[in-house]
Amino acid sequence: MEGIYPIIWDGTTLKLLDQRVLPEEERYVECHTLDDVRECIKKMVVRGAPAIGVTAAFGLILAAREFMGDFTRFEEKQGAFSFSKFQAKLKSAGNNLKETRPTAVNLSWGVERIINKSQNLNEASPSLIIRELEQEAKAIFEEDIAVNKKIGEWGAKLIGDNYTVLTHCNAGALATAGYGTALGVIRSAFYQGKKIMVYADETRPFLQGSRLTAWELQKEGIPVSLIVDGAAGYHIHKGDVNCIIVGADRIAANGDVANKIGTYSLAVLAKENNVPFYVAAPLSTVDMSVNSGKEIVVEERDPEEITKLRGLPLSPPGINVKNPAFDITPAYLVTALITECGILYFPNEEKMKQLVPKRR
Ligand code: MRU
Repeated sequence: MEGIYPIIWDGTTLKLLDQRVLPEEERYVECHTLDDVRECIKKMVVRGAPAIGVTAAFGLILAAREFMGDFTRFEEKQGAFSFSKFQAKLKSAGNNLKETRPTAVNLSWGVERIINKSQNLNEASPSLIIRELEQEAKAIFEEDIAVNKKIGEWGAKLIGDNYTVLTHCNAGALATAGYGTALGVIRSAFYQGKKIMVYADETRPFLQGSRLTAWELQKEGIPVSLIVDGAAGYHIHKGDVNCIIVGADRIAANGDVANKIGTYSLAVLAKENNVPFYVAAPLSTVDMSVNSGKEIVVEERDPEEITKLRGLPLSPPGINVKNPAFDITPAYLVTALITECGILYFPNEEKMKQLVPKRR
């Protein structure tokens, strides 16, 4: 894969490729503290469900270091490092991170992995605790890339030669630690030598499709045509599209899928026109604690994402705006879920129950 590095951990600082300014600029924002990481997730310097899960894990390492500094200064000198106080602070930092973006469950998952790791370290010295937690964050990063490649391998089986694949938002290397989920499938098929063409929805209002997906694919020489969101139906109805592949932010216990706003409309179009609708996601995106999509909290974002473009007004002042960032696609519209464990056709509650124990 052509060098795309959305998240770089150098052992001290977390560097995030600023996804607000791509494709014009490739610049990194440096995070030194928990607050830096919070801001970057909130403002979408980093975005995409798996990427924010990995970022949150590293954010907790920065937080843990800050707390250890406090303890070392005030308590360890007297030999009074308190593991329980440390852990309480870590948990509160984790909760703080979870609040930044409520829909993508990978964020909570990344936080919980670090918190769970810390549970077994109550006998360890402060420096060993930090080392072990950092190892866990690095493992989360590495595993995400490995899992994406597995998703890619499975998913590529569904892509025929000369296929035109439509995708929405950005579920690529930029949305993960690297490689991507939906774009991982497209990458794998392309690397196998299949001739494919991608239609990328521009994905209003943040324009993940035109700014990020188009950039990623073009960088790798994967043929891509950018279309406005409203053109998807036209192309699907005309028979230009062989299948649709999207990522997911949260998948409920019954197989309902939360993903970028506009996904549900695509799934309905797919059904109406007999086009397969695939969702590619790691098992860390499955949340068995929500029974159906109805229980998933959909993030509502700043109206200015819609009313302004880079500071320029696009609509009359004072206009009412609704800006849900995600929507819910019912499981019955999903032809198959592609995970690291294989292809699950027509997901439902029973099949999801069998799938999830396979996760790490
Ligand atoms: O608001 P975003 O850009 O974070 O939304 C991203 C998506 O909806 C992606 O499709 C999803 O997170 C999967 S990314 C592998």
